[in-house]
Amino acid sequence: FDSVVFPYREDCGDIHPLFAGLSGLLKTVNKEMPDTRVKVVDFSYKQPKKSIERITELFLNELLCDNTRCEVGYKNKKRYGLSMKTSIADRTQQIISPKDTLLVTGGAGGITYEIIKKMVEKYKVNLIILDINDIYSTDQKYLDKTSTQAELMGLLKEDMPGVKPIEIKRALDRLMRVRLSLENIEYLESMGVSVEYNCVDVTDAKAVKKAVDKHEQIDGVFHAAGMEMSQFIPKKELWSFELVVDVKVKGMQNLLAAFKDRKYKYFFTFSSVTARFGNEGQVDYTSANDFLGKTLFRQKQLHPERTYKVYAWTAWGGVGMATNPTVKKVLEERGIQFLPMEQGVKFFMADLLDKTESEMVFSGLDYSFDKDGLLGDPGDMAFPFLDTPIEKTPAGMTYSRVLDVERDVFLHDHTMEDVPLFLGATGIETMAEVARSLSEDKAHFVELTHFQIPYGIKLLKGRPKELLISGDHEEDGVFKCRITSQFKNPKGLVMGEPKLHYEGQYRFAQKPLKPKKIKLPQFNRVSFEGDLETLVYNPKRLFMFGLFNTITDINSFDGKTLITTIEDKSKKEFFKGVKEPRFVAAPILVDAMFQTGGLLEFFTTSRTVLPFKIKSLKFYKDVERNREYFCITKKITSGIETNTYDLKLTDKKGNVFIEVSRFEMVKLNQLDPEDRIVDRVDFTFSNKKQGAKVK
Ligand SMILES: NC(=O)c1ccc[n+]([C@@H]2O[C@H](COP(=O)([O-])OP(=O)(O)OC[C@H]3O[C@@H](n4cnc5c(N)ncnc54)[C@H](OP(=O)(O)O)[C@@H]3O)[C@@H](O)[C@H]2O)c1
Repeated sequence: FDSVVFPYREDCGDIHPLFAGLSGLLKTVNKEMPDTRVKVVDFSYKQPKKSIERITELFLNELLCDNTRCEVGYKNKKRYGLSMKTSIADRTQQIISPKDTLLVTGGAGGITYEIIKKMVEKYKVNLIILDINDIYSTDQKYLDKTSTQAELMGLLKEDMPGVKPIEIKRALDRLMRVRLSLENIEYLESMGVSVEYNCVDVTDAKAVKKAVDKHEQIDGVFHAAGMEMSQFIPKKELWSFELVVDVKVKGMQNLLAAFKDRKYKYFFTFSSVTARFGNEGQVDYTSANDFLGKTLFRQKQLHPERTYKVYAWTAWGGVGMATNPTVKKVLEERGIQFLPMEQGVKFFMADLLDKTESEMVFSGLDYSFDKDGLLGDPGDMAFPFLDTPIEKTPAGMTYSRVLDVERDVFLHDHTMEDVPLFLGATGIETMAEVARSLSEDKAHFVELTHFQIPYGIKLLKGRPKELLISGDHEEDGVFKCRITSQFKNPKGLVMGEPKLHYEGQYRFAQKPLKPKKIKLPQFNRVSFEGDLETLVYNPKRLFMFGLFNTITDINSFDGKTLITTIEDKSKKEFFKGVKEPRFVAAPILVDAMFQTGGLLEFFTTSRTVLPFKIKSLKFYKDVERNREYFCITKKITSGIETNTYDLKLTDKKGNVFIEVSRFEMVKLNQLDPEDRIVDRVDFTFSNKKQGAKVK
């Protein structure tokens, strides 16, 4: 009752965290045993005994229904489920005051250390750390800063005769952790704050109380100690289950008991995305984290004057328990997106300025992990090229988006010598989405200007690539947008300056542009050898396939103006599991228009060209799938490095849908003779001035 789905509502009854612990456990059962029906049904009834018949009926219906959602709830005849919404910290309410004293469990290393380091830097907080390793009783000979791991291994072998190598390796790992903890504490102290380290097992109530009681004032608690011992249910042993649960849950209960009659302002704890999604091999860890989160929610119910926060992290990259090679491999295989360390710290620090939410889940859009559909239907995403909002300023927003060939399957249809390339049109779409996210009631994208691609985006070796997409309010309805990326070393540390890939200025309006109609030019017959698809879509010429196979006919050409028929007709998925995403700037047809510039060159100069700049791209009307359009492509100039074209997308009556003025394409290589098609295309037209037939 009131412990699984309803704690997220203001009017929730008394929360019983143990039920959340059970729910966490069952979410993993649901994943590990796919043939077993697993249901957790939360009820919110003020007097459950009086409604027992109704509750029983609802419970049985839920068990027998077709819906596979594991966690559901019932209240006032309504069925409830959980869903997550993206949001960004408000940054208007400071939780921590400078020089606060903070008690942190498990803070001498891992992700917690990275976070408290930043807290010390910003708020000069004094720290009381409770961690399990007895770092001060370690023999000095193991602490010489100059000794290498190999030397330490040698020392341990000498001191542990007859001990199995695996045990010695464990001792070495522990020693490395101790050395790191000492180094970390030294660094924290060097920032001019007091740091007290207590060797305390948080599952030991007396030891926790003793460490707390030494201090007259502690302003906040941060329970981050945790253990993870992945093992599938049939092989899970009770002692390890209890250990993993106890560090989190008993640890929290012991802290709450020790702080029972004390004044403090805030309580934070660290949970995991597994608490929301369940995870194979982590039945205990999932249970512990969900139990922990709802214990915190219960405290919030009892003490609304305090700030309570539970951070459910996805796996961090570069630091902490998910860097264990086995854990990392498994998570990577499950398609989990790792959170770069710097980003995680940034999220946490921003959230310290927001008192509104109590549970924050920091997750990639890991749909394959999300059995209950908390992330929603990927096909309904308002902005499929924007994932995580990472920065909000008075002028605008920055989002992060990881391009990944597994999810962004469209990239397979645009590869140059097997290297997936982000398209000019997908760049335009991506920035249009950030602009639309800011444009409020101005819902119509009407014009893009000042567009350029200083540096294209490639997925080398098919590796995922994180893009940062920013939009800033320039004037009414106008947004300056850009896509950048930041190189990071394997530890997730930022290296060098961000690289600018795309930029452009977007105009949105409440109404669409006034309709425009043109008189279609007279067509000049074109004939070509063989079939159109092989002629056009050859990887040496236009290296797009499938989804972007959009030029369906060549209607006219006179050496300067090319008229083609184009249609978005593919039935393939654009993103994994999504065939018809919601787009702002029609990337498939805009790309089709861009392709015609390339085609015009193959008919004349045999040169490959790529999109580079646009003076103006106007949207007059929404385009549709499975509908034929004409694309009228006129070559305006040919410079040293670029060619310039004007393009119009019209219907057969000349109604203009999209108009691109001064589209510059950068000249690349000349095609190899065997790839040229100039001789396979015939076009004749009357040159009125000269009165001659030109071929
Ligand atoms: N890293 C991630 O990707 C990630 C993701 C989701 C959630 N989290 C959560 O974030 C927290 C910190 O994780 P981390 O990656 O930084 O892990 P970590 O490096 O293993 O740090 C956890 C710390 O807690 C200590 N600890 C374990 N049992 C204890 C006990 N009984 N009493 C006192 N201290 C104890 C550990 O000591 P030992 O070193 O001796 O074990 C270690 O110092 C954990 O609660 C974890 O569940 C982490």
